[in-house]
Parts: sequence; C-alpha cells; structure tokens
Amino acid sequence: MTATIRVAAAGDIHAGEPLRQRIERAFREIGQEVDLILLAGDLTTHGLPEQAEVLADACREIQVPIVAVLGNHDHHSGHSDEVKDTLESAGVIVLERSHVILEIGGVEVGIAGTKGFVGGFPGAEIADFGEPALRQVYGETTLEVEALERGLEEIAGCHKTIVLLHYAPLQDTLVGEPETIWAFLGSGRLAGPIGAHRPDLVVHGHAHHGTAHGSIGEVPVHNVAIQVTGQDFVVFEL
Ligand SMILES: [Fe+2]
Ligand SMILES: [Fe+2]
Repeated sequence: MTATIRVAAAGDIHAGEPLRQRIERAFREIGQEVDLILLAGDLTTHGLPEQAEVLADACREIQVPIVAVLGNHDHHSGHSDEVKDTLESAGVIVLERSHVILEIGGVEVGIAGTKGFVGGFPGAEIADFGEPALRQVYGETTLEVEALERGLEEIAGCHKTIVLLHYAPLQDTLVGEPETIWAFLGSGRLAGPIGAHRPDLVVHGHAHHGTAHGSIGEVPVHNVAIQVTGQDFVVFEL
C-alpha cells in the first residue's frame, strides 16, 4: 500500500501582468498544501514570453514539483519555445509529447503529458480523408495520441499514474459548451490510450464553459479549467 499524495491542478490560468498578484498568492498558498502541482495548458493569455514570466515568477519559489503542458493560447504568438524556456528556467517541468517520473515522498509518480488537439468525438469526427490540409489536422492529432500511448507505456510501472492534457479526451467534460464547437475542444481518439492503460487521474482544460467531472471507463477525468472549477486550484488525493 503506497502513501497518498495530494495533487493540485489548474488549467487556463491565462497569465498576464494584470493577474500577477492573484497568481502569486494562489501559488504561494497551494505550494504549502500539496505534493505536486499540475498546469493543464493555456498558461498565458496570448503566448507572449512576458506573460509566461508572470507565471514563472509565481512558480520560482515553490518547493513542490510543478508539471505543465502548453495550450493553444501558448502557441498563438509563435513564441511557444520561449514560453516553455521561461517556465523551465523557473523550475517548471513542461511536457510536450513526453513524460516524467517523480519520486514524491517515496511514491513514484508518473505523468504523461501532451497538449492534445482537435478532431471531435464519435459521431462528429474529422476523418483522415480529402484535402492535405485537413489530413494534416488529423495527422497532428494522431501524433498526440501516439505520444500519449508512448508516455503511458513509459510510466506504467509507477505507483501512481497521471495524464496531463490541455484538450479534452471525452465529451462528458464539455457539457455546457455549445455542441457545435466540441470538435474544436478535443478528440475522442485521445481516450484510446487512457482506456487501455487506466491511469489514476486524467486532467485537462481548454473548455472554459464545460463540466468538471467525467470518466473514461472507470478512469476519472477532470476539466480543471479555473473558469469551470471556480477555484485557483482543485486538489485530488491519489
Ligand atoms: Fe483557455
Ligand atoms: Fe485552450
């Protein structure tokens, strides 16, 4: 029987200078309470390095590991590499189609992290057909799904396993968003590796008007966008 760890998660912080004080206070407080912090993408407002700096400043003094994935907003200005570098310089582990294994109080915690991408859900999905541009979108999601599968394989032996995404892997946590845009909020193909490997926890963001809780089989999936949870962080015990 392994010890319980406390995990805080937040998505869609959308950092920028106007939010500096709130963000710094939230991180200071949560850093005292948990063993691990997860950030589910849309870390910045428009993907500018100075916006990432605001979040980096809040993360720099935190003693517990902080693991993040980028979101679509973090790519918007074409500076996602600088956003990533800025956060990494503050000690944040930024996962891009990758994984990390952390030792937390004697517990091996594996996190497979990737941004995810669009494509829709059974019944209303983009197919790998037609114009190259559309097939390229399909192919981009394929790379995300394959990376998630690889990451889950790598962390399979850990005491606790977590999937960290920005885009949604299922529809449950999108309820509240107009159904007409669900195809842009995630891809049901991401659920394949999750259903097969059954991690202990899956978190995502991106759907600001979605629903907090869902599941893929017995795997709990949480939309941790702060606009959904109404809190700076939600805390899970694993
Ligand atoms: Fe967002
Ligand atoms: Fe987003």
